[in-house]
Amino acid sequence: MTGDLFELDAGIEARQQHLAPGAVLLRGFAGAASHSLSDGLQSVIAEAPFRHMVTPGGLSMAVAMTNCGDYGWISDRAGYRYDAIDPESGRPWPPMPEAFPRLVREAAAAAGFNEFVPDACLINRYGTGAKLSLHQDKDERDFGQPIVSVSLGVPATFLFGGTKRAGRTLRVPVQHGDVLVWGGPARLNYHGVLPVKAAHHPFAGTHRINLTLRRAA
Ligand code: SIN
Ligand code: FE2
Repeated sequence: MTGDLFELDAGIEARQQHLAPGAVLLRGFAGAASHSLSDGLQSVIAEAPFRHMVTPGGLSMAVAMTNCGDYGWISDRAGYRYDAIDPESGRPWPPMPEAFPRLVREAAAAAGFNEFVPDACLINRYGTGAKLSLHQDKDERDFGQPIVSVSLGVPATFLFGGTKRAGRTLRVPVQHGDVLVWGGPARLNYHGVLPVKAAHHPFAGTHRINLTLRRAA
């Protein structure tokens, strides 16, 4: 009996990787929720399709995006911000499918952040070669709230740095079902995604999908 328990604990430990104080990778944490996440994603994109937003400088972003929840993250010539209205439809963003906040609440708690209630979910879709440059998430009101990022579909390399752009950057391989949580002392750490390599995964074909859940307001 005790042998079994010990093995279980060791398994859980091996699946949790501490990247920095306040930053944890939960390997495979979302794997069991894959089907409900997929159903939720389909319902969101039926109402708010993926689109390539424009940066304040006027360039089309390589990563296609959409949102669900009370607030959506948007970029256009006027800048980066959260808005309750989808600029493409003129309507509120679709509600967050139940499976999303349920999963990320558990993930945040596993990483030591209790009572996380997200009000914004950014959905990123990476095609082959798409990348996300190093940046900080700082359009939210309360940096006391963590960020929970769910990787789905084809694998990628997530970059996780420190609070300065020029600092040391970890290369973290992320696969379908992996969940990254960062908050507290890591809340403003730089992060990004290396160009996604050509691959195929049953979840979304050649795409990598990322759900980023935050408390925006
Ligand atoms: C983000 O930083 O907004 C998304 C990161 C990711 O796609 O893993
Ligand atoms: Fe980010």
